[in-house]
Amino acid sequence: MRPSEPADPLSAQVLASLAGADPRLRELAGALVAHLHAFVRETRPTEAEWLRAVDFLVRTGHACTPERNEFILLSDMLGLTSAVDEVNHTGPANMTPSSVEGPFHSPAPARPMGAWIAEGPERERGEPTLVHGRVTDCDGRPLAGARLDVWQADDAGHYDSQDAAQPPGNLRALLTTGDDGAYWFRTVRPSSYPVPTDGPVGELLRALGRHPMRPAHVHLRVEAAGHRPLTTHIFAAGDPYLASDAAFAVKDALVVPFRPCADAARAARFSMPGPFLEAEFDIRLVAE
Ligand code: BEZ
Ligand code: FE
Repeated sequence: MRPSEPADPLSAQVLASLAGADPRLRELAGALVAHLHAFVRETRPTEAEWLRAVDFLVRTGHACTPERNEFILLSDMLGLTSAVDEVNHTGPANMTPSSVEGPFHSPAPARPMGAWIAEGPERERGEPTLVHGRVTDCDGRPLAGARLDVWQADDAGHYDSQDAAQPPGNLRALLTTGDDGAYWFRTVRPSSYPVPTDGPVGELLRALGRHPMRPAHVHLRVEAAGHRPLTTHIFAAGDPYLASDAAFAVKDALVVPFRPCADAARAARFSMPGPFLEAEFDIRLVAE
């Protein structure tokens, strides 16, 4: 709810000072000022509390590096990234829902369809997993030439960028669909993992009595000509953190079982080594 009329002369004065040529900037800045003034009137922070909050933001800025954006992490942990995602990705009821990108995306190697994407020590340790599905439009028509960008953590919850034992590009892939829109790749089951907690955002989570865990997931970005690009997750059903994802990014339609398969003929068909897990996830894109 936007406070429509300023309830006090001070905020009215600040709002009246907002000029400039860009009407959208005026709208955004005006709503921000109105909400922040209302927040102060409601919660009446002491000067010490206010300075502490400013110091927190300063330290959040100082924690940022070219590889780490502590402000995005703050936005993720407050559910703001998911809120922005929610207001921007509406569409048909059967479209595949979007979800946050998170901080661990990096350029992936192009791989052939069906490739093993687990090329580090996790390949020996982890549970072999087949991930597959079809990329279609919302009427079920297959999308040929769709490009999938896939990234995930390993069975210990680490991305390649966090773990010197993994080769660069590990557990990442760029795949392109053929005429049937089908995709598949072989990997190990990802594990749930904590978001980085060694900075100010970790401090805030601890102070608020919150855990930092994200449920096990695979990230996907899917692009196809004439369709809205989609960034989303596949979440593993049964994960203990599905109901309390630290990034508030879980949506029911993104949760799929990683089903055990002991069928030797199916294992041979997908060149899987003995028993494996199978996750099926179809992707329906919205036409532009
Ligand atoms: C991730 O899944 O990579 C992620 C998302 C939000 C915050 C931290 C990590
Ligand atoms: Fe992730």
